[in-house]
Amino acid sequence: MTHDAKDLHLETLAIGYGFDPAQHQGAAKPPIYLTSTFVYPTAQIAKDAHRVFFDGPKDGEGAGAYIYSRLNHPNLDMVEKRLAVLDGAEDCAAFSSGMAALSTTLMALLRPGDSLVYSRPIYSGTDGLMNGHLTNYGVKAFGITNAVDRATVQAAVDLALAAGPLGVMMIESPANPTAAIADIAMIRSIADAVGEKTGRRPIVVVDNTFLGQLLQSPLSWGADLTMISLTKYCGGHSDLLAGAVSGSAEMVRSLKRLRTTFGCHLDPQTSWLVLRSLETLALRTERSCANAKAIAAFLQDHPKVRAVTYLGFLVEGSPERAVYDRQCKGAGSTFSFKIKGGEAEAFRMLDKVRLAKMAVSLGGAETLICHSATTTHYAVPEAQRREVGIDDGTIRISVGLEHIDDLIADLSQALEAV
Ligand SMILES: Cc1ncc(COP(=O)(O)O)c(C=O)c1O
Repeated sequence: MTHDAKDLHLETLAIGYGFDPAQHQGAAKPPIYLTSTFVYPTAQIAKDAHRVFFDGPKDGEGAGAYIYSRLNHPNLDMVEKRLAVLDGAEDCAAFSSGMAALSTTLMALLRPGDSLVYSRPIYSGTDGLMNGHLTNYGVKAFGITNAVDRATVQAAVDLALAAGPLGVMMIESPANPTAAIADIAMIRSIADAVGEKTGRRPIVVVDNTFLGQLLQSPLSWGADLTMISLTKYCGGHSDLLAGAVSGSAEMVRSLKRLRTTFGCHLDPQTSWLVLRSLETLALRTERSCANAKAIAAFLQDHPKVRAVTYLGFLVEGSPERAVYDRQCKGAGSTFSFKIKGGEAEAFRMLDKVRLAKMAVSLGGAETLICHSATTTHYAVPEAQRREVGIDDGTIRISVGLEHIDDLIADLSQALEAV
């Protein structure tokens, strides 16, 4: 029997919600439905399945029958139900990657000639989409450098409105790799004011990849859609690519329709892997956050390190701290630090690291470490990188689940090379 979400904690829902053994021959765990298409007992059932998918269910009508795996399939259904409940949303759409989720979302929400605003820094793939491909449709993007400051956000919104109708406010919070934070509720209030003034309220989309559903609930702060790269903490083992967007049933339905056109749904095998990984999300989050806190403290005191951008270190009394305390339930486990010196010193340290793996990405069981300027932000012009606080000594670390003593010993010996 599927659990009733009411009164259950997210940690519990992450384990079983969305899968009912009684509907799957009593299988304790989800079978994987490796089929591209589905068979109907009658023509009317086939017609109804298509009507429900394209027009939405009538009042009191349940989900329709499956059609074709690019549109929907049982494993997709299970993972979407579970992700929606974790996000506190009516529905969720899962995609073949985080970028597939973001591209589909922005293509669904924007019209030619629209403008958008976005928090800076933002993931380079998102940046490339907004300032690259979307410009082919006349979309103009305006960055917000301080997304906890109302006046700064308003200034970006005013520039955007002067350039075209404001369709989307795209927020990544906390940001990669500087931990810059955005005030989602304040941004939503500005979106509402724009709606009142212009008759079109911009849609607030939050990329929640860095904290995830257990540490931040963007919808509860006024976001319309919350997006996540499942590749990171939800997948949790650096062995899959997936993404998801949650929100109202109506908005998610329009994303599913476009996903069908683009063909970027999440396949059965990967849906199953995500479901399995979600079962340990709470435990992994707990352990990686505890490890990250200890490593951040170790780095902060280290003579070869000049700065650590760990959310837990936000200065008491600062606007960022106030937003963090209100909006986030934890500091997460990916952050950056700055080595004393530049690229040469950073490379010397990275080449000495033995236990942590030198790789981009984050959120896996293993600790990953990389030099931001020459890897994840390689394509970002130097001036823009520096403007948002990424210099040549910046190193990003995604802290994993290893024993903390081993991690600190590894970093300690590597820092001696600086
Ligand atoms: C914050 C953020 N959003 C989106 C993405 C894109 O996700 P994916 O690699 O699953 O396409 C990434 C990837 O690193 C990311 O860090």
